[in-house]
Amino acid sequence: MLHSIRLATRSRTSGWARQCKTRTALVDEFYRQGARLTSLSHLLWSDIVRPGDTVLDATCGNGFDSVVLARLCGRQGNVLCVDIQEQALASTKAHLESVIPLDERPHIEYIHESHCRLDHFVRPNSVGLICFNAGYLPKGDHTLCTTAATTRKALDAAAQALRPGGMLSVLCYIKQTGGTDECETVRSWMAALETEEFVCGHMEVLNRSQGPQLFSAWKRDDVSEERRQRVAQKRARAKKKRETQNVC
Ligand SMILES: C[S@@+](CC[C@H](N)C(=O)[O-])C[C@H]1O[C@@H](n2cnc3c(N)ncnc32)[C@H](O)[C@@H]1O
Repeated sequence: MLHSIRLATRSRTSGWARQCKTRTALVDEFYRQGARLTSLSHLLWSDIVRPGDTVLDATCGNGFDSVVLARLCGRQGNVLCVDIQEQALASTKAHLESVIPLDERPHIEYIHESHCRLDHFVRPNSVGLICFNAGYLPKGDHTLCTTAATTRKALDAAAQALRPGGMLSVLCYIKQTGGTDECETVRSWMAALETEEFVCGHMEVLNRSQGPQLFSAWKRDDVSEERRQRVAQKRARAKKKRETQNVC
């Protein structure tokens, strides 16, 4: 079970133990809400992000995910909000500033860039959580959309940027134009990661036709530095081989 919230009430007759009821956030915030994968992703993140972490929203859009990240990393943390649209960055900024009081707000950077260039603004092994919520800006221009090629390139950079114990979270929508291709790309990219370095998972709601797909890759924190370096060198060689086309 992902999370347990212990609700305890003291009773004169039975004491703590017998009065303890365990209610799970998974049931309350995911299943009872109609199995929204955004809620599930937020639950996963809450097990990963530590106070003071640097976190990165690679498709910040209207800032709903950035707000969750900002609350999780807290005042000492750093949130990097990335989007190719200025309109999205402005919307994220307005949202963050309206719901998180100044004295609780982490350091926030708004980066007007493609996430393909993620390695230009984060150092390797430095980020606790990187999320992608693929697609286009709701009510915005549907042509300004993530693609299989750009997401693929960004994932390579994101894998390097994660700290051990950090997580990559990717939500894909197969109903959108190019969505099936993007989902398949993410699935095969994660499936090819070294098991000694990453543990990858996939979730979909089976009884919802063409629903979104949630992928997560957890960077293991129980691998020796020597082993990690060998895997990284192997990955860099494979990347160099693949880099024949520039997608950004
Ligand atoms: C579904 S929205 C994200 C929703 C957002 N996470 C939220 O909580 O409101 C997808 C966003 O990805 C952005 N996007 C598309 N391609 C991008 C790229 N290559 N780099 C960065 N952002 C991109 C779009 O501009 C859009 O704002």
